Amino acid sequence: MPTMRLDKFLSAQLNLSRTDAKKLLRAGRVTVGGAPETKGERQLDPDAAEVSVDGNPVVYREHLYLMLHKPAGVVSSTDAPGDRTVLDLVPPELRRAGLFPAGRLDRDTTGFVLLTDDGAFAHAILSPSRHVPKTYLVTLTRPVTPEEAAAVTSGLILPDVALKPASLRFAETAPDGLPVYELVITQGIYHQVKRMFAHFGDPVVRLHRVSIGGLRLDPALSPGEMRLLTPEEVAEIRQNGV
Ligand code: URA
Repeated sequence: MPTMRLDKFLSAQLNLSRTDAKKLLRAGRVTVGGAPETKGERQLDPDAAEVSVDGNPVVYREHLYLMLHKPAGVVSSTDAPGDRTVLDLVPPELRRAGLFPAGRLDRDTTGFVLLTDDGAFAHAILSPSRHVPKTYLVTLTRPVTPEEAAAVTSGLILPDVALKPASLRFAETAPDGLPVYELVITQGIYHQVKRMFAHFGDPVVRLHRVSIGGLRLDPALSPGEMRLLTPEEVAEIRQNGV
């Protein structure tokens, strides 16, 4: 494993400027392998070194992978002046340079957004050639007809694009009496789901993403909450198409 400078390690893992990392070191708050260390240039193996600040171990993560339950009214971009973005929801201890949403949901769409600073991973799950499945719960104004369902499952032809076959099944009747369908798509065309049902004159009333690459949104997460993905969960997304 290549080595890394201690001040760089601290600034990357704790989202500190290099200057603030050096201040921590100078203040004698950092230990490596249990021994106090004040030198930022100290080289260490980030995977093996036992670094602590004020006695609290600093866990090394090369990349962050976060599962966010996106609430309505939040935009899926990194910078939108005047708007609340998905990055504004990240708690301070999980903030890190380079974090961005790997795939966007519309402002009014809720559900699973994956945030990461791993560009190669994001590229892989977004790449059309990888066909990573995404599952949505779609609330409509009326039930789909058998002909509409057949068109969705065999590949809907929109005026400008022929969509790939998708899977569609009735899920439940919502408390307001509207039909909810589970839809699995493997593309990421802009406004794809809304366009599909607008094509039938059956507008989407609510849209919620429940899974990416077979990994379901954790039901313990309330809207606006997020948690780290486990390495097993990251591997599961990779296996499902990536
Ligand atoms: N399709 C849409 O139309 N909107 C989304 O937010 C996601 C998929």
